[in-house]
Amino acid sequence: MARNILVTGGGTGIGRAVALHFAAQGEQVVITGRRPGPLEEPARRSGVRALVCDHTDPDALTRLLGELPERIDVLVNNAGGNIMFDADGRTDLAAYARDFRANLDANLVTAALTTKALDERLVEGGAVMHIGSIAADQGAGSYGASKAGLATWNISLAHELGARGITANVVAPGYIADTDFFRDQLADERRAQLIANTATGRPGSPEDIVGAVAFLASPAARHITGQVLHVNGGAHTTR
Ligand SMILES: NC(=O)c1ccc[n+]([C@@H]2O[C@H](COP(=O)([O-])OP(=O)(O)OC[C@H]3O[C@@H](n4cnc5c(N)ncnc54)[C@H](OP(=O)(O)O)[C@@H]3O)[C@@H](O)[C@H]2O)c1
Repeated sequence: MARNILVTGGGTGIGRAVALHFAAQGEQVVITGRRPGPLEEPARRSGVRALVCDHTDPDALTRLLGELPERIDVLVNNAGGNIMFDADGRTDLAAYARDFRANLDANLVTAALTTKALDERLVEGGAVMHIGSIAADQGAGSYGASKAGLATWNISLAHELGARGITANVVAPGYIADTDFFRDQLADERRAQLIANTATGRPGSPEDIVGAVAFLASPAARHITGQVLHVNGGAHTTR
């Protein structure tokens, strides 16, 4: 039977690739994003359902619930990004506070609110995944802090959901090319450095993340929970 799968931020990049993969497997997939525009192409191409939602907004999430199936098998909390790429350059304390909070909102609060909103719909045998980041272990200011917080929060979530037969894990990408993440602000030098940091000598692709997400959502991964699965070509290792 087809599973019901929600991929937040599924209009572009990693989320889009994850959604297209599950749709190609015959699953019932819903994607979300704040802008209707980027949601159109994957919806047209693969038949995924596209719904506009800002996952930082509890009211928007409550409205989203009205559009979603009663049972959710797989939740991929992918929506996020480093809001510093969109920052206005202000450096005063008020701007610092605004930007810091915005990164926590974008990457941690989105996942927590979405999971909370869907709690009663998550079914036994299900899987929750959050897209974290190598930045959680390597820095990157408030963005890295938000992804580190996501991984720590996931530990208690795994215990809460484990009692109901649902897994909860983080997939932590390293540098992934061909997404909108860097907003065209990644200098050639920095890109070369990120690739040089890997053992594989190449950037990651959205498909690399698809592999990890598909595995964690599969029957083969039922005893894996509360973990961070790093997908970074060896740019960060746990030993
Ligand atoms: N690319 C990398 O190198 C890299 C590395 C490590 C981790 N990651 C993580 O991977 C995830 C996906 O990023 P990506 O690389 O695929 O970049 P992306 O192409 O910019 O995708 C991010 C998606 O999230 C959506 N989104 C952002 N905030 C949202 C919100 N509040 N509510 C709903 N949707 C929201 C965006 O759409 P709207 O703007 O229309 O809402 C966009 O479709 C992010 O969590 C990112 O932090 C990426």
